[in-house]
Amino acid sequence: MRVALLGSGRGSNAEAVLRAQKDGRLSKAEVVGIYCDIPTAPMLQLGPKFGVPAFYLDPGPFKTKFSPEQEAFWADTLKQHRVDLVVLAGFMRVVKAPLLEPFAGRIINLHPTLLPEFPGLDGIGQTWRANVPEGGCTVHWVTAEVDGGKHLGQARVTREASDSLESFAQKIHQAEHALLPKVIAELAQKFPQL
Ligand code: GAR
Repeated sequence: MRVALLGSGRGSNAEAVLRAQKDGRLSKAEVVGIYCDIPTAPMLQLGPKFGVPAFYLDPGPFKTKFSPEQEAFWADTLKQHRVDLVVLAGFMRVVKAPLLEPFAGRIINLHPTLLPEFPGLDGIGQTWRANVPEGGCTVHWVTAEVDGGKHLGQARVTREASDSLESFAQKIHQAEHALLPKVIAELAQKFPQL
C-alpha cells in the first residue's frame, strides 16, 4: 500500500509513521512521499531525515481550502506517484471533490479529539475549555463532511486535576503518535489492494 503523508506544520505524526516504517511496524504500507501546503513547514525536513521524497505543493491563495485548480493538481500529483492511501497528518485544509473523488474511500484523517466531539479547528483547545474528564484522538475516513467520516480508531486520554493545557496536549499527541501508525498498519493488512 503506497502511502502519502499530507501535512501543514510540525510533522510529529508524520514522523511517528516514518519511525514505525523504519522499525518494520507498518505492515505492507510504504510511505512514498510527504506533501506540504506550507513551504516553511518543518515536516518537509522529514524527507531527507528518513530518505523519503518531500514536496511543497501550491494549494492556491486561500488559507483553509484549496483553489479547485490546485486541488486537481494535488490529486494529479498523487495519482502520478501511484498513491493508494492519502493520510492527512496535521493537514489544515478542507478537502473537497477534486481530491475526494479520485481518492474516494482512500483518504484518512487524524483529529485530536474524541469525535464526534469537537470537530473543526483547535480540537485540543475546545476539549480543554469544555472541562470534560477525557480527551483523545480519532482516525477516520475523510468524506465531504468535515471530521464526519466513519471511525477507524480512537485513543482516550484522561484529564487529571494536575494537568495544564500543555501537559494535556502532550498526552493527546503521544496517543496520536501511537494510533496513526497502528491504523495505517491495520489498513495495509486488511486492504493490501486498496
Ligand atoms: C495533530 O494534533 C493533529 O491531530 C491536528 O494537528 C496536529 C498536527 O501535529 N490535526 C487537526 O487538527 C486536523 N483538523 P503534527 O504536525 O505535529 O503532526
